[in-house]
Amino acid sequence: MSAQPIRALFALDDDVETTSFEHSLVGGPSLQIVGIVSGLDAGWRSIEETSPDLLVLVARSVTDKALYMIEAATKQRPDCPVVVLYEGNANGFMQRVFDAGADDLITLPESPEGIRFSLEKAVARRRGAVVGTGQAPMICLLGPKGGTGKTVSSCNLAVSFALAGKRPVLVDLDLQFGDVGIALGVSPERTIYDLVRAGGTLDAEKVEGFLTPHPSGLRLLLAPTRPDQAGLIEVDFVRNLLKVLRSMSDVVLVDTPPSFSPEVIAAIDAASHLCLVGALDALSLKDSRLGLETLELMGHSGSKMKFVLNRADGSGGISRRDVEQILGRTPDVYVPEDKDITRGIAEGKPIVTLNERSAAAHAYRDLAKTYLHEFEEAHAVGASDAKPKRGLAALAFGRGA
Ligand SMILES: Nc1ncnc2c1ncn2[C@@H]1O[C@H](COP(=O)(O)OP(=O)(O)OP(=O)(O)O)[C@@H](O)[C@H]1O
Ligand SMILES: [Mg+2]
Repeated sequence: MSAQPIRALFALDDDVETTSFEHSLVGGPSLQIVGIVSGLDAGWRSIEETSPDLLVLVARSVTDKALYMIEAATKQRPDCPVVVLYEGNANGFMQRVFDAGADDLITLPESPEGIRFSLEKAVARRRGAVVGTGQAPMICLLGPKGGTGKTVSSCNLAVSFALAGKRPVLVDLDLQFGDVGIALGVSPERTIYDLVRAGGTLDAEKVEGFLTPHPSGLRLLLAPTRPDQAGLIEVDFVRNLLKVLRSMSDVVLVDTPPSFSPEVIAAIDAASHLCLVGALDALSLKDSRLGLETLELMGHSGSKMKFVLNRADGSGGISRRDVEQILGRTPDVYVPEDKDITRGIAEGKPIVTLNERSAAAHAYRDLAKTYLHEFEEAHAVGASDAKPKRGLAALAFGRGA
């Protein structure tokens, strides 16, 4: 625990009186109360103003507004845990509160010492998760429209990380029609479906046995081989799985189907980075814009997001300026049309190994390099032992090993 006191902000739901829970509050050397505000809207403003270490939401009933606030607060301030103090029986909605992202739920009455202990524990846990090396970065590749290049981008980015000496895992979350295995020329001897079927506790040792190795060093968790098998894979399982994978790799990448299915939403929520892939045609750009807006509405800030413009040299009469106007942002990476990409899919080879000098291969390596810089910076803030292996130099020349 830090020697600095925890700065806690208390936000009271509209129907809660300060007087009704005041006796439960214990400030002191380890817990400093930076504000007690009435109403969730005021609470929201105070988060910005006071920048607390901990948000405590006091509620009598759990409303959609309260759940939304928990969700939005945990997304915008991932370093700030949210604890709910609840006056009453929490049985009916406990799961919803945790699903929204709350770190703990304390039912009142509870002794002031008990409350303080729980609040301190929530902060300690969260600091451990953010500062420690327990959870690797996770990039979720998305695109609301089919065929824009999500799988091509996932595979090339993942192999670029592997060639840079990292230990990436690529998960094919296109559960019905996933084709990462085909794109990378590996056969699906064990898939995510087999992992579910195996039952029992999900831990790193077990998951490792269901990963398929790729010659680059990348490990793959492949999609089921038949669409009907997808039904067995539940969202909670996917959530747990992603956590385990992040504990056993340097970076997790997730390829997704062209929809916001429940498991895709779970992956988006869990991801530290989002990468939207769109193609250079009017319809795809319109859908990309819609996708970007949807993600923003879901509380994902622009800083977490990158945009890959695929087939960026198309001759459809759409200029880069048009793209920026339609999207409302500049793409982070431009991947040109390249027939070797199509050939590579047929041969099971990503462009970064098939033709490493091509502009498309450069684009994917540059993207990987940008991510590695971001990971290193983030890690340097949280932990002093974060040093790159040989990632950036290897990517600069297009060869890893
Ligand atoms: N830059 C490119 N140049 C040439 N062909 C490309 C390029 N990007 C993608 N393709 C081709 O387009 C097809 C679709 O790509 P991909 O499978 O990556 O799309 P997707 O977004 O994953 O599709 P889905 O939504 O169906 O999962 C593939 O056959 C691929 O070879
Ligand atoms: Mg795909």
